[in-house]
Amino acid sequence: MQLVKVDNYEEMSKKACSIIMEHIQENRNPVIGLATGSTPEKLYSCLIDEYKQGKVSFENVTTFNLDEYVGLKKDDANSYHHYMKEKLFDHVGLGVDQVHLPDGHSEDLEQDCLTYEKQIEEAGGIDIQVLGLGLNGHIGFNEPGTPFSSRTHVVELSPSTRSANARFFSSIEEVPTQAISMGIASIMASKKILLLVSGKQKAEALHRLLNSELTEDFPASILQTHPDVTIIADELALEAS
Ligand code: GLP
Repeated sequence: MQLVKVDNYEEMSKKACSIIMEHIQENRNPVIGLATGSTPEKLYSCLIDEYKQGKVSFENVTTFNLDEYVGLKKDDANSYHHYMKEKLFDHVGLGVDQVHLPDGHSEDLEQDCLTYEKQIEEAGGIDIQVLGLGLNGHIGFNEPGTPFSSRTHVVELSPSTRSANARFFSSIEEVPTQAISMGIASIMASKKILLLVSGKQKAEALHRLLNSELTEDFPASILQTHPDVTIIADELALEAS
């Protein structure tokens, strides 16, 4: 794992933005894995700025998101479909045929998981996967205890993840109890992984990632075994390390 230390959230976002831009510019059919949550918000606004200045085109880009809540409609303000449209897709000309998220509202969730894996495979796999880090070490929505061999699957969200994400909902009761997430093996199949970590609240999790043993109790620990991981972390997140 390569650790890139930056001063703050802004710098972390700009650095990630330049890595992704470079990849898009240098590849004919780039396949980018995207994440949601607060962490990549500024990365997305940076990509939008670059697009508006004509520095990058998303014409040949295909995207796959890590996860989606179960039970929320695509246009629900809290769905990750909605988040991605609002934070990136609609501003850079990324059309519906180019972007992919697990359905989360389909009648057959298990089938949806299989279809999602197949779509990633047919696209030639993910070139760069953007990841955030959950407080309990989750990546995507793979909670502690998820087998490292897992592929896209339906997950039960842990109380700590539901409460961490409750800030986006009007009450914790409204936070879905399940999600569909790319599995740990699906994430690990990405050619390159870009893990973004910012802020004091992530310091403990980052410290654990940098120092812990490989264990399914801390899903992000698997990243230690990936051949091409870049962690971009800011000063506050590195405080405990
Ligand atoms: C959420 C998402 C993850 C995200 C992580 C961190 O639950 N499912 O994809 O990376 O937790 O979120 P945040 O960036 O808001 O801290």
